[in-house]
Amino acid sequence: MYEQISHSLLNSILDDLKPEIRRQDLRHFYTRLGANFYAIHSLFFTLYGHRDDFKVQMLRLVETMAKGYIDRSRELEQLDIQREQDHNWFLSQKWVGMALYSNGFAENLADLENKIGYFQELGINMVHIMPILKCPIGKSDGGYAISDFREVDERVGDLEDIRRIAYEFRKRDILLVLDIVLNHTSDEHEWARKAITGDRNFQDYYYIFENREIPDMFEENMPEVFPETAPSNFTWNSEMEKWVMTVFHSYQWDLNYSNPRVFIEMLDIILFWANQGVDILRLDAVAFLWKKIGSSCQNERNAHLILQLMKDCCQVTAPGVLFIAEAIVAPVEVIKYFGEDAIAAKECEIAYNATLMALLWDGIATKNTKLLYQGIKSLPNKLERATWLNYVRCHDDIGFGFDDYDIQVAGYEPRTHRKFLVDYLSGKFDSSLSKGLIFMPNEATGDARICGSLASLVGLESALSDADERLIALAINRILLLHGIILSFGGIPLMYNGDAIAVLNDYSYTDDPSKINDNRWVHRPKIDWEKAELRKKQGTVEYRVFTAMKKMIAIRKEISAFADFNNRELLHVGNEHLLCYIRFNHERPSEKVLVVANFDANLQYLDLDKLRNTGFNTYSKFVDLYSGIKPLQSDGRIILEGYQFYWLTES
Ligand code: GLC
Ligand code: GLC
Repeated sequence: MYEQISHSLLNSILDDLKPEIRRQDLRHFYTRLGANFYAIHSLFFTLYGHRDDFKVQMLRLVETMAKGYIDRSRELEQLDIQREQDHNWFLSQKWVGMALYSNGFAENLADLENKIGYFQELGINMVHIMPILKCPIGKSDGGYAISDFREVDERVGDLEDIRRIAYEFRKRDILLVLDIVLNHTSDEHEWARKAITGDRNFQDYYYIFENREIPDMFEENMPEVFPETAPSNFTWNSEMEKWVMTVFHSYQWDLNYSNPRVFIEMLDIILFWANQGVDILRLDAVAFLWKKIGSSCQNERNAHLILQLMKDCCQVTAPGVLFIAEAIVAPVEVIKYFGEDAIAAKECEIAYNATLMALLWDGIATKNTKLLYQGIKSLPNKLERATWLNYVRCHDDIGFGFDDYDIQVAGYEPRTHRKFLVDYLSGKFDSSLSKGLIFMPNEATGDARICGSLASLVGLESALSDADERLIALAINRILLLHGIILSFGGIPLMYNGDAIAVLNDYSYTDDPSKINDNRWVHRPKIDWEKAELRKKQGTVEYRVFTAMKKMIAIRKEISAFADFNNRELLHVGNEHLLCYIRFNHERPSEKVLVVANFDANLQYLDLDKLRNTGFNTYSKFVDLYSGIKPLQSDGRIILEGYQFYWLTES
């Protein structure tokens, strides 16, 4: 948009740019800056316009983008241009992701390179390598307490390794995802250390207070993230003799985005990683970016403005790079991380679909799909050029943050129902074989979350220890059922670490004093590659899970109806154990797939009558894409075995 004030400001900024920047060939940079400058200026002004140094900071912002552009390799710039031309490229069904630890899935980054063959074998072409940056030993929050945003932790490798991995991935059309931990730094980060020595400039990078007056006001409305191990949102620093805001652990200091320097520093870091060849940046804990007294300090409007500004700036320098929002918040809130009042995504293009994840676990625990239907129905339609990351497990706990209203509509009382889920998944009932661990129970609120590996949560650990073949088969079916959904739902499926080879809970974290109080480590195991070889041996659990997943992934990639263009229609089929939806090709709607999944352990029936008016009418033509056979039928009903799913098309 052309607008006089921002345009004349832009001209004066361009005049003031450092000579070494002016001398470069910045053609693409200028066209993009021109296109985005009005938005960038308005956002920066809304956030920081009241400050005396506004113009100086605005100049620094433009210099940061220009410097990032100058440092971008020709190869990456070519990719930017390609992606601009094919701007919906990431909505394709061809992408299948996996999240893993460089020192858990492999020994380190160099060794991860040796494992690229495994990704190709399974069909993974988007890899999220969990945090690899420098963190203090024992105070790392699994890599999310960073003491240097540009230095790789020497225990896993160095920057050269990452550049090489990015290059090797790119050759094979595998996308690289890395984290940017925007919300906080370690208390050992240089900025925090300078703050501790009394440097006011750096104290302004954080929320630091002389006394309890303001912290107490904040606390009135702020929930606790880790109530058991890190209660309260402020930590006393005895060297400074001041209080510091620490929403997560006491050693994770929250960055203060009301300071434009913080914004510019973090943008610089984003561009630095974009320029190492990272395709997608996972922006950690974005819901927390803005703090305001009287609010929960989550999902604040200014947090969204910061993300929009980051997106607009990143588009100028590295438009091919996408953002993932890690905002594990209520459905109505999560959708806003694509951008409010917009048609196409203008904050993050991708967001974790934590709602679907939690709903799937509800389905497993209740063996019915009442809340699943209600929750999916309430999932707002997402924007164009935006997509979900659909996942079953990740490195974090499972929280049951569905809408209370949805729980009630499904016929439950919210508090009791959440308690039931925690009890079920932690195996409290005889009828439950789940081996989850309770995470961060909060006595004051009654909340609790669940940890555990996929395989252990669906009962495989118990079934194997009882050597009960029937239960083993049911547990495997549950694993496949859940993946049958995330692979067909619409969005990028993100598998986790050892799930394709059914890795169980790993209790060894209790031997490590720095991990013992955080049972998320139970599902962050070291992969045993000798055991993983069993995926090639017929009859083993590893083989049964791995070959099935591999096949599902290969099929997904061929089915254009599985791409994500708001092309899903939920179908009510009058059986509370079934989840049923239609996916259709958005360009050729007659190309459809009927997905039906049985969340019960018993046989269930899908009444063909219920498919009237869906375009699927001739049973005789049905074929399951996954098994290649016709579904079993009796009396006008399709039969589904316990935990079976179908991807049906008409042949
Ligand atoms: C392909 C590539 C991706 C590229 C896109 C643009 O899908 O894998 O990296 O950006 O095409 O056309
Ligand atoms: C995110 C991460 C989680 C971490 C937290 C604080 O939620 O996924 O593992 O503890 O941020 O950085």
